[in-house]
Amino acid sequence: MKPAVLAQRLAPLMPVLRCPRCQTAFELNGASLICQNRHCYDLSKRGYVNLAPSHDQAAEKYDAELFGSRRLVFEHGFYQPIAEAIASWLTDAPMTVLDAGCGEGYYARLLAERFAQAQFLGLDISRDAITAAAREPGRANWLVADLKHLPVADHSADVLLDVLTPADYAEFRRVLKADGWLIKVVPGSDYLCEVRKAVAPWLRSGDTYDNARVIDHLKEHADIAEESEVRITRPLSADESRAFLRMTPMTFSVPADVLDTLELSQITIHMHVLKCSMKEAKA
Ligand SMILES: C[S@@+](CC[C@H](N)C(=O)[O-])C[C@H]1O[C@@H](n2cnc3c(N)ncnc32)[C@H](O)[C@@H]1O
Ligand SMILES: [Zn+2]
Repeated sequence: MKPAVLAQRLAPLMPVLRCPRCQTAFELNGASLICQNRHCYDLSKRGYVNLAPSHDQAAEKYDAELFGSRRLVFEHGFYQPIAEAIASWLTDAPMTVLDAGCGEGYYARLLAERFAQAQFLGLDISRDAITAAAREPGRANWLVADLKHLPVADHSADVLLDVLTPADYAEFRRVLKADGWLIKVVPGSDYLCEVRKAVAPWLRSGDTYDNARVIDHLKEHADIAEESEVRITRPLSADESRAFLRMTPMTFSVPADVLDTLELSQITIHMHVLKCSMKEAKA
């Protein structure tokens, strides 16, 4: 994408965007975003801006192969019920939606098509994720950024999506409007249970998963207003099995030659989709 085209796409977001180093506003200056303290970030020809240029991308375990596998399972519709649950809580109005830890961008891309009046910003610390997202940008905009230092103004977001991604609730509270919603998606106990069983010897937690700690941590910082539980089991083709075995951090510690020998006949997607309001910060 030509930087001039990206600049045009970013222009409506300028009131929202802030420098992650000093929190001042940006100006679009040719092919760069420049803050009031002259911190400068180039618009990439690949259609995104890297606002975390010092992050060690080589050490990232979330890499291009993983995001390619995720793209395949998204294209095959396995996660559509999650997107529908999120969509059921959005209205088509002028609003700003952040997808924090957006990966290859499935949710922001799909929802941006559905909600034409809203502006969507997908952020991820992995450059491979954002490169994959920006390849088919749709209406959303894409940034390499750390969700612990979101490059947006205080109380500027109407909705923040946090789908299977670490949370920083103090930062989420800072960027959400007072009446904004955090939509958090957490795995249920049976999420990808077929993968978990197949690789249990390599997992510290063995073949069971309990989300109680994640939910307890969420409840310290937010009130759950609505909840939708999704649980589906679908048969898998060989390609889909291959992708599911390579799209999750659950298999990070499994040797590649072992992974090559595994094949799954079915997969379970079990998730809790939670619409939350942030609690007041503790004094
Ligand atoms: C399991 S993936 C989920 C991706 C996406 N939400 C989805 O459902 O496909 C977790 C994502 O969180 C991102 N992530 C982890 N720590 C992050 C951070 N500090 N800031 C931004 N993204 C982060 C990873 O790069 C990865 O893309
Ligand atoms: Zn700055």
